[in-house]
Amino acid sequence: KTKAFIFDLDGVIVDTAKFHFQAWKRLANGLGIDFDHEQNEQLKGVSRVNSLKKILEWGNTSVSEEEFIQLMDKKNQDYLTYVDAMDESEILPQVKEKLQLLKDNNIPIALGSASKNARRILDKINLTPFFDEIVDGTNVTKAKPDPEVFLVGAEKLGVKPKDCVVFEDSIAGIQAANNAQMTSIGIGEQNVLHEAKHTFHDFTEISDEFLIKLARI
Ligand code: BG6
Ligand code: MG
Repeated sequence: KTKAFIFDLDGVIVDTAKFHFQAWKRLANGLGIDFDHEQNEQLKGVSRVNSLKKILEWGNTSVSEEEFIQLMDKKNQDYLTYVDAMDESEILPQVKEKLQLLKDNNIPIALGSASKNARRILDKINLTPFFDEIVDGTNVTKAKPDPEVFLVGAEKLGVKPKDCVVFEDSIAGIQAANNAQMTSIGIGEQNVLHEAKHTFHDFTEISDEFLIKLARI
């Protein structure tokens, strides 16, 4: 028996932050609200609803409930034009190789993403077959840092939370993993993700030996 590995999608497997940025910026600017890269950073791992709430707050703008839903839909349609142009070349370095290594060693793999577009993206980049279970924004009600998305993943895999290792690029995601009593691995800057058990800039910095050791119960 080995531990199970749970991967976040956006920022860990693919760099979709650049597409979210384009789509949110267009929407915000259309409402007369400025939107820069620093603000985009603060939306990493944040659900679609909460992202729009933050943008409206930053712009001191309020809209009706109906308009709020229309705006979320508009942003998503725009975002999906980028998603639908994605292919395997968007997979971040060494991600596919590491997934293959885990498969070869019979280590269970799940996806734990806040995105409602997660399945569509995995299909576009041809990684769906690597995942034993997929938990995404359509399966959970509580956003990260709530541990729900990862706990559901563990349950679906039939593995105890403490026997799960989570890969995350966002602060909220690392907190969600820690809240679930899982081993958190940060993908990004150590000073940002200091709550993670270990941090790496990307998967090229993670050795096969380290991953296999991590999987040992
Ligand atoms: C997270 C992203 O994975 O998913 C966020 O980091 C995004 O930027 C969130 O807002 C929700 O995604 P979607 O695709 O359902 O709008
Ligand atoms: Mg992420």
